[in-house]
Order: sequence, then structure tokens, then C-alpha cells
Amino acid sequence: MSESGSAIDRHVPHASRIYDYLLGGSNNFEVDRQAANAAMAALPGGIDEIRLQVQANRRFLGRAVRYLADEANIRQFLDAGTGIPSDDNVHAVAQAVAPETRVVYSDIDPVVLAHARELLASASPGTVDYVDADLRTPSKVLREARRTLDFDRPIAVMLVAVLHFLTDNDSPLGIVRELLDAVPSGSYLVVSHMAADHPEFPEMADYARRLNEVTHETFVVRGRADVTEFLTGLDLVEPGVVPLKEWRPDGDGLVSTAIYGAVARKP
Ligand SMILES: C[S@@+](CC[C@H](N)C(=O)[O-])C[C@H]1O[C@@H](n2cnc3c(N)ncnc32)[C@H](O)[C@@H]1O
Repeated sequence: MSESGSAIDRHVPHASRIYDYLLGGSNNFEVDRQAANAAMAALPGGIDEIRLQVQANRRFLGRAVRYLADEANIRQFLDAGTGIPSDDNVHAVAQAVAPETRVVYSDIDPVVLAHARELLASASPGTVDYVDADLRTPSKVLREARRTLDFDRPIAVMLVAVLHFLTDNDSPLGIVRELLDAVPSGSYLVVSHMAADHPEFPEMADYARRLNEVTHETFVVRGRADVTEFLTGLDLVEPGVVPLKEWRPDGDGLVSTAIYGAVARKP
């Protein structure tokens, strides 16, 4: 049982396990695979298309962390909605640049909690922590992150492929503001978000609708203007809010995605 109040449920598909399935992981159940395959029917390219998209999201996460560690000198990360550990977890990428980097991971899903020990064991002692919390209660995420992170020094807040699980009723803008208000000037926000208005992918709203019929979470696609609103008051790092393949491409298998990505600095 996680502190967020739920036990691992093998009968209802969960976002973290569907994501793991799409990334080729083995921490998912038949119910997750069935839900993913049913929702993929909305896409002309089927499951292969969405696999490429989630892989592209993971590579964006890696590029953003490398940029922050290498070029922006960031040594603290708060990664909310971290998911089941995969390749290139935040601490692995950041600590390859600066081994002293501290990372706090956070997620609501009991399966992710069950894998937290694995994450912590793969880092130097004391540098990585895990917070079992709902992003819709940012005060708890922040309170527990203070065990590991120094909130007087810049922190990169990572909200990668998680804001699309917050509906407008959850006040996602207020949640992002609360997180950003807690960190000092020179901190960063990293966002990726499923796009509702990418001209190459008109089917994303239908994909979301199909997922919502079967999964535990509610999935919301948003347009570029709405995604940009999450970064209000921050200085956008070039090239701004763009489809992932346009965000500082490094030539590593870049494909078109119905996902926007952005990195921005708190002035
Ligand atoms: C698509 S995965 C993204 C994982 C990782 N950030 C990445 O981009 O590779 C989304 C994760 O967000 C988590 N999540 C969804 N709603 C959440 C909430 N309200 N609070 C915390 N985590 C949440 C899910 O459990 C899942 O692990």
C-alpha cells in the first residue's frame, strides 16, 4: 500500500505501467497491455507510432537534464511523476556530469513506489530520495523533498509527461505555481505534454478519449498555448515550446511527436 492510499491493482490499467509497456519494459500486466493496444487503434500508425513517441519523450528528458547539468550548472532536481525506472533516469544522466547532484523522485503510483529502492540503490548514498505523493498536493511533495534538496539553491523541477494527468479541475496552473514559488531565482522548469493541436496528429483527442475509457487516470491533451501558460513568468530557453524533436536535437533517432517540450528559467 502506498501512502497515496492505493495498493497495486492488477485489474485496472495504470499510466506508469502502460508507459513502461510502450518503452519495452517488463513491469506491466496484461490489463495494461490490453488498454494500450485498444487506445492505439485510434492512431494510424498503431502501437509502433506511440512507442516512437514515448521513446522520444524519454530522450527529451535526457537532453533536458544534460543541458541543465552541463550548461546551466544545475545540481538539484525534483522529478515529479517520475514513472517506473527506465534507461537514463534523471540521476544517472545528471550524476554522469556532476556526481554530487541531488535528485528527489516523486510519483503517486504504488508500482513506482515498489521500484523506488532500485532507483535509490543505483546512486551514491544520500544523493537520491523518493517521495510517495500526489502532485495534486504539492505541499507534501515540497515538504518531503526538503529532506534532500536545499531550497536556497537552484532546483530543476521536472514535470515530464505528467501534467496531462491533471485535469483543469485539479488547477494544474496553481500546482505549477506553488512548486515554482518554492524554488529560488535561477531554478528551472522542464515540461513535456501531449499536444492537442499538432497538425500531423489530429487523432490525439480520440486517443485520449479511448485511454480514459479504460485507465485509472484521466488523460488530457492540451494545445501549445495552454502548455505555454505553464511557463508564464519564466524565461524560456531556446527554442521555446516546440514539438520534442525540435528541442535541442542531438541527432539521436528524432521523430515527429504529438508532444510539446520546453525548458524555462525562473528569473
Ligand atoms: C507517462 S509517465 C512519465 C514518466 C517520466 N516522467 C517520463 O517522462 O519518462 C507518467 C507518470 O506520472 C504519474 N502520475 C500521474 N498522475 C500523477 C499525480 N497526480 N501525482 C504524481 N504522479 C502522477 C504516473 O503514475 C506515471 O508514473
